[in-house]
Amino acid sequence: MTEVVQTPSAFTPRVFSGIQPSGGLTLGNYLGAIKRFVDMQGQYDQTIYCMVDLHAITVWQDPEKLRHATRELCAGFIASGIDPKQSILFNQSRVPEHAQLAWIFNCVARMGWMQRMTQWKDKAGKNQQNASLGLFAYPALMAADILIYHATHVPVGEDQKQHLELTRDIAIKFNNDFKVDFFPITEPVIEGAATRVMSLRDGSKKMSKSDPSDASRINMTDDADKIATKIRKAKTDPDGLPSEVDGLEGRPEARNLVNIYAALADTSVEAVLAEVGGLQFSEFKPKLSELAVAKLAPISGEMARLMQDTGEIDKILDLGAEQAREIATPVLKRTYEIVGMVGA
Ligand code: TYM
Repeated sequence: MTEVVQTPSAFTPRVFSGIQPSGGLTLGNYLGAIKRFVDMQGQYDQTIYCMVDLHAITVWQDPEKLRHATRELCAGFIASGIDPKQSILFNQSRVPEHAQLAWIFNCVARMGWMQRMTQWKDKAGKNQQNASLGLFAYPALMAADILIYHATHVPVGEDQKQHLELTRDIAIKFNNDFKVDFFPITEPVIEGAATRVMSLRDGSKKMSKSDPSDASRINMTDDADKIATKIRKAKTDPDGLPSEVDGLEGRPEARNLVNIYAALADTSVEAVLAEVGGLQFSEFKPKLSELAVAKLAPISGEMARLMQDTGEIDKILDLGAEQAREIATPVLKRTYEIVGMVGA
C-alpha cells in the first residue's frame, strides 16, 4: 500500500535570498538585493540570508580569497542593517541539506530547462564543453537553497528572474510527480527603482563585480573620493535631465543615474525628476555623489571595522548555520520519505 503523504496546504510567509561571495559587493548588489533584504527584515516572520559559497565555486575561486570574500560579505550584510538576531545569516556549505536537496532536484529538472538559462549561456560562452558541470546545474542548487526552507518570497535583482521561474517549475514538477503539495510555489520579489543597476561606463551592461573595468562599478569598499571620482566620470549624454519619466526613453545612462539616486534616497524616479528636472549632469552628479557618499561611507566604514574581528563574524555564521539546519533537516527528511529513500 502506498503511504499517505501529509500535504501542508498553506505555507508560512518566509523570505530567503542569497549572494555569491565571488568578489566584492557592488552598488548593484546593495541596491538590488541587500538594501531590500533589510527592508523585508521587519516585515516577515522569518528572513534567511545566505552567502552561497557552493555557487561561487561553479567557476574557479582561489580558496583564500573565497574565505575572505565570504566573511566580508557577512560583514556587508551586517553593516547594511541585517541583524543576526532578527535574520538567519549563514554560509551555504555549512548546511549540507542544500546540496542534498539539489541532487534530488538534479533528477527532477530537465536538461532542456537548464540549457535555456541565459546565465548559463552567458557564463559558459562559446566554450560550453569546458564549463563545469556545477555551472550547468547551478539553478537546481539555487532552487534547493530556497525550497529547503519552504521559502515563499525571494527578493532578487532582475537578472535572477529566470532562475526563480525555474525554481517554480521544479517545485511544480516535484509536487506533480509525487502527487504532493510539499514545496511552495515561490514568489519572486523584484521591486524598486534599482532592480537592474547598470555599468557606469555603458548603460546597456549590468553593473557587475566581474567587469574588468573598476570604473564601471561602485564597490561597497570604495572610499568617498573613489565614489565621487567614479560618479564624476560616469558616462552620460549631452542633454540635461528631463522632468518626466518619458524623457529618459532611449537614454540608458541617464536612466541609470536617476534610478540609483531614487533607490539611495528611498524615493520614486518621478519624485527625483520633479526635483532635478532641468539640471545639467554637471549639476546633478555632485548631488548624486553627495547622496552616495552619505549612504555608503558608513557601511564601508562599518564593514572595515567588523573585518578586524573575523572571530566574531565566524561566531555569527556558526549560529546562523545551526538555526538554518533546524529548519532544513526535517524538510530534507520528508523529501527523502516522499521520494522513497529507506531509513529517511
Ligand atoms: P549574485 O551573487 O550575482 O547577486 C546577488 C544579488 O544582487 C543582485 N544584483 C543586482 N541587482 C541590481 N543590479 C545589479 N547590477 C545587480 N547585480 C547583482 C542579484 O540579482 C542578486 O539578487 N544566483 C544568485 C545567488 C543565489 C540566490 C539563491 C539568490 C543563489 N541561491 C537563492 C536568491 C535565492 C546570484 O548569483 O546572485
